[in-house]
Amino acid sequence: MKPVILDVDTGLDDACALLLAARHPELDLKAVTCAGGNVGLDDVVRNTLTVLDAAGRPDVPVARGAAVPLLQPVRMARHVHGEDGLGDIDWPRSTRTTDPRHAVELLRDVLREAAATGDLITLIPLAPLTNIALLLRTYPDAAAGLREIVFMGGAAGIGNATASAEFNVWTDPEAAAIVLTAAGELGVPTTMYGLDVFYDVVVTLDQARGLSGSQSAELARKLIEKRSELYQGDGASIGDGGAVCAVIDPSGLTTQPFPVRIELSGSWSRGRTIVDTRDWSADLTSDPHGLSPTTVQVATAVDGKRYAEMWLATVS
Ligand code: RIB
Ligand code: CA
Repeated sequence: MKPVILDVDTGLDDACALLLAARHPELDLKAVTCAGGNVGLDDVVRNTLTVLDAAGRPDVPVARGAAVPLLQPVRMARHVHGEDGLGDIDWPRSTRTTDPRHAVELLRDVLREAAATGDLITLIPLAPLTNIALLLRTYPDAAAGLREIVFMGGAAGIGNATASAEFNVWTDPEAAAIVLTAAGELGVPTTMYGLDVFYDVVVTLDQARGLSGSQSAELARKLIEKRSELYQGDGASIGDGGAVCAVIDPSGLTTQPFPVRIELSGSWSRGRTIVDTRDWSADLTSDPHGLSPTTVQVATAVDGKRYAEMWLATVS
């Protein structure tokens, strides 16, 4: 089994990711940490616990993390995820409590243990990268427990929160810049599962309506129905869930190594992931910015059908 930790801002599509990670037989879900993002931290935590209950995984520790971005005011996406972040669907909320540790401390402890045993962890951030930036700068030694980071965020092409920027990176650009810099310095292999592939793992309404017989299946059906309604389609992407699919079955994802920087200023471009697709074997010494110190495996294509089938089979 592959040990993983999810960092989430649950969120309808974070919920799709949690169901998959909690139930897939090849994943060992060690912990889930929460950050404010799509909705406020209290709602994120409640939604996360609720989804794990539905998945039959009350054993997974869940920790509260950063409520707000490092520098800028919080901006949420209730228009995409509903007032409560879970689409305001009729579903009983969890009464379970969280781990007493802050998210950064839970991450530190689980990663240090992984470093000691050698069973290294894949970290899957699906939220603004606030918790992960704090972790890597406060406890850099914990990175020894990381096998890799596979994060949902950014885009080589267009954004969603703005024309330039994807929501997670746009919400906390300083955190994203710190994570990419620290991952480069600490030698942590990093994959960017961005908007270039995010929308391509689609579950149809017909497929979703076939989901029944367990709490997990019922919730999964409601999530797809709600996302289909919001996007006015006859199906919906599992969004963040695709990043978990990529960890389970990396051969379904095409990636290319590109230098990536985060735009931290700009009138219209703050929070953009600047993916440098130029040929650096040519003479680019005239570029005053030079080569970005951090190279990221950028997802450029995905086998959406395969991943959607994996998700359906697992959540049901
Ligand atoms: O931009 C995509 C991201 O924002 C995802 O992490 C998802 O939760 C969405 O709301
Ligand atoms: Ca998310």
